[in-house]
Amino acid sequence: MTQITKAVFPVGGMGSRFLPATKAIPKELLPIIDKPLIQYAVEEAIDAGIETLIFITSSSKHAISDHFDPMPDLREKFAKNKPHLAEKLDTLPLSVKRVFVPQGQPLGLGHAVLQAETLIDEDEMFAVILADDFIPGSNNPLKPLIEASNNGLASVSVERVAKDRLSSYGVIKPCRWDGAVTSVEEIIEKPTQGKAPSDYGVIGRYVLPHSIFSYLKLIQQDQSGEIQLTDALRALMGADGLQAVKLQDRRFDCGSQEGFVLANLFVAMQNSDLKQSIKKEVGDK
Ligand code: G1P
Repeated sequence: MTQITKAVFPVGGMGSRFLPATKAIPKELLPIIDKPLIQYAVEEAIDAGIETLIFITSSSKHAISDHFDPMPDLREKFAKNKPHLAEKLDTLPLSVKRVFVPQGQPLGLGHAVLQAETLIDEDEMFAVILADDFIPGSNNPLKPLIEASNNGLASVSVERVAKDRLSSYGVIKPCRWDGAVTSVEEIIEKPTQGKAPSDYGVIGRYVLPHSIFSYLKLIQQDQSGEIQLTDALRALMGADGLQAVKLQDRRFDCGSQEGFVLANLFVAMQNSDLKQSIKKEVGDK
């Protein structure tokens, strides 16, 4: 299997749909019950073999760095009487490296990924994880992408999206499916009504080669002033090819209030105490 040891987490977005909650903290720190989205994403990365986490941050927000800092004093205090709480403080294994890179200007996902350029070797492939695409199932979504990229090609995760939601996603045109993997014939960022080349939307998991950076540098800002990763992927697709892998588990779009609330309910329903309370209090009202 391709050795992919670095993952980029763009976490510098404004999170405007969650203001005022995101005034002081990034949206990736919003919790699903008791665990922030970014921690789920980091655990997924580590489980897939990632050893270095590269956070592309907004310079005014330091809370993600704080979240992953060890707290030896508090840990020691809890260790005596409340060991289950002490464990909860271990948000990151000591063996995993973290790097924080300020994005400088909020110029979109492509611009965020570009900030990682100097941290990736020329012959290295790396993962990109968007923590607000929350995938709580038992199948690690990054592993099949890494496996598909064993052939050296970039891979993106996709799932079928309702037609009226396609304009919120990068949308691919699959060429020919071989099991859950297809080569990609077209990819368009947020197509307008009727212009989507299929109903397969790109979900926030990518495995990319170093060459993506040279394409990203050629991409102009779009109408909203953003440099789109999708546009660089289209250029990469034309030159080297691009493949897509179908997501196996359910995904929640926690960049939207609806997705965030549903994700919390979904996880709560896996917990027997919370499930009982929800049934009792909300029931079929
Ligand atoms: C970004 C990408 C889009 C992708 C989506 C997945 O959009 O630009 O191609 O489909 O993530 O969540 P955003 O959600 O940042 O608008």
